[in-house]
Amino acid sequence: MKHSPLRKYVLTKENKDYDKLSEISLCWAKASIENKLSYEIDWLGIPVIQSPEDLILVQQVIYNVAPDYVIETGVAHGGSLIFYASILEAIGHGTVIGIDIDIRKHNRQILEKHRLFKRIELIEGDSTSQEVGETVRKKISPRSKVLVCLDSNHYKDHVLKELEIYSNFVGIGSYIVVFDTITSLMSEHGVCDPSYINNGPREAIDVFLQQNQNFRIDGEFNKLFVSYSPDGYLKRIS
Ligand SMILES: C[S@@+](CC[C@H](N)C(=O)[O-])C[C@H]1O[C@@H](n2cnc3c(N)ncnc32)[C@H](O)[C@@H]1O
Repeated sequence: MKHSPLRKYVLTKENKDYDKLSEISLCWAKASIENKLSYEIDWLGIPVIQSPEDLILVQQVIYNVAPDYVIETGVAHGGSLIFYASILEAIGHGTVIGIDIDIRKHNRQILEKHRLFKRIELIEGDSTSQEVGETVRKKISPRSKVLVCLDSNHYKDHVLKELEIYSNFVGIGSYIVVFDTITSLMSEHGVCDPSYINNGPREAIDVFLQQNQNFRIDGEFNKLFVSYSPDGYLKRIS
């Protein structure tokens, strides 16, 4: 991770109160999920279902990687697509490909009218289908720099399939961001559906990393503690 030269010092394990921050962030995660806080924010007018902290972290990844393509599975209203598109617009380069099994007509119409839609392409279909994978492959050249964000169905098997498919597009130095890795832990705490216990994105990452040594968790992105996606930033290292 590149840091701004203006930064006076970088926080490390040694100069943080880890136990306190971990305890408080667990309380925050539970209370914020119970109160549905992630449904409260818009980005440039479109609802985005994320925490502000997670958006700030993805912004750092996008800025550092400067991808040709950001591929996101899970569009919903499209606020995250607009968020990525706004960073790419500021960088002056790149396209967002948004994939969703059900792009509602109303959401599509609003997105298509947005001034940043010029940087967005939509694909409707199951993100784990061969057809959708093939459509994405045809859109990007093998030399393209690609960043992948997984935010669709959060069950382990689905996320694992997405990891297997979309990791093929990610080159050395870029990332797959797996959102909502906190889901199974939150189920254990009774604030997410019990069917996610040991069965969410975090568990998919464990299986994926056993199968694929080209990626590792970049712990740098656990630095804000307040996050729905701890250990969710997978960097391609070889
Ligand atoms: C959590 S929302 C996405 C939120 C969005 N990324 C944001 O930050 O605003 C999850 C989306 O995943 C979509 N989805 C569920 N199963 C899917 C699948 N198999 N393939 C593609 N999209 C799927 C749903 O239709 C829903 O719109």
